[in-house]
Amino acid sequence: MEIFNTVSTLQQHLYQLTRSGKKIGFVPTMGALHEGHLTLILDAMEENDIVVCSIFVNPTQFNDPNDLKKYPRPIEKDTQMLESVGCHVLFLPEVEEIYPAGLVEPEFDLNGLDTPMEGAKRPGHFKGVVRVVYRLLDIVKPDSLYMGQKDFQQYSIIAQMLRQLNSGIRLVMVPIVREIDGLAMSSRNVRLSKEGRAHAPILHKVLQEVEYYVNSQPFPIPHKATELAFDLFKQHGIEQIDYFEIVDGNSLKTLHSFEDSHFAVVCAVIVIDGVRLLDNVILFEK
Ligand code: PAJ
Repeated sequence: MEIFNTVSTLQQHLYQLTRSGKKIGFVPTMGALHEGHLTLILDAMEENDIVVCSIFVNPTQFNDPNDLKKYPRPIEKDTQMLESVGCHVLFLPEVEEIYPAGLVEPEFDLNGLDTPMEGAKRPGHFKGVVRVVYRLLDIVKPDSLYMGQKDFQQYSIIAQMLRQLNSGIRLVMVPIVREIDGLAMSSRNVRLSKEGRAHAPILHKVLQEVEYYVNSQPFPIPHKATELAFDLFKQHGIEQIDYFEIVDGNSLKTLHSFEDSHFAVVCAVIVIDGVRLLDNVILFEK
């Protein structure tokens, strides 16, 4: 695997490859890699000649400076993991490379996709995500971009950005990779206590119950599904529910009736041991 720290050396390398017609797949990450990230890399490897992974803990998307400081940076382990799956290129820039003085950045109309859920809980977060993904795409110029369903709202917002750019970059959504007990893999899971970790799979179990309700009832109703979920959380002693939303998968607007949508997704965040656990399940896509 080739590792580059600067935009110019990376671009020189990639220029040679694209000139000879090689297809580039790109997987942006913030490191602290797990199998979820590696699945994105493997999917990209299947569909492209060259896979570029970036590891950059993007300061502009952290609304809590403490979270930024605490964000794990196990760079040696990450490098080894990327080597182990055969990733071709790792881009590992410093902040100055991504945000040089005088950088001109476009503004995007996110069409309200950044207001609910994560957007409401983490003001400014998606502005930072869009800034960094735009900049990284401008540097790497990939044919395809791989993003996880795990961050469904992030995926929707990047899809909206790409539509506005009319960029021709293909966006691929990679399904959520889970631990055996259903907990969605996340770099933050290591912060859970032993008890917290044992309790954490309840989030996915509740989302699965909602999925079952919606798909097994002849006339399911979103607010009934929500009641069911809150009852289950209560029964299992989950007190801190950051949000629980059944939304249209395109507009991210709350659904009041399943008949109003062809694409319904349930998204939730609960907090255990002070760790925000984020998950979602696609209820149906007609
Ligand atoms: P990060 O949290 O490192 O995630 C990088 C990518 O891995 C994202 O597309 C995310 O959705 C995906 N991912 C994380 N956990 C996953 C899982 N369990 N299954 C499948 N995919 C998973 O998301 C970011 O970084 C940043 O916001 C970034 C896009 C890199 C911009 O800074």
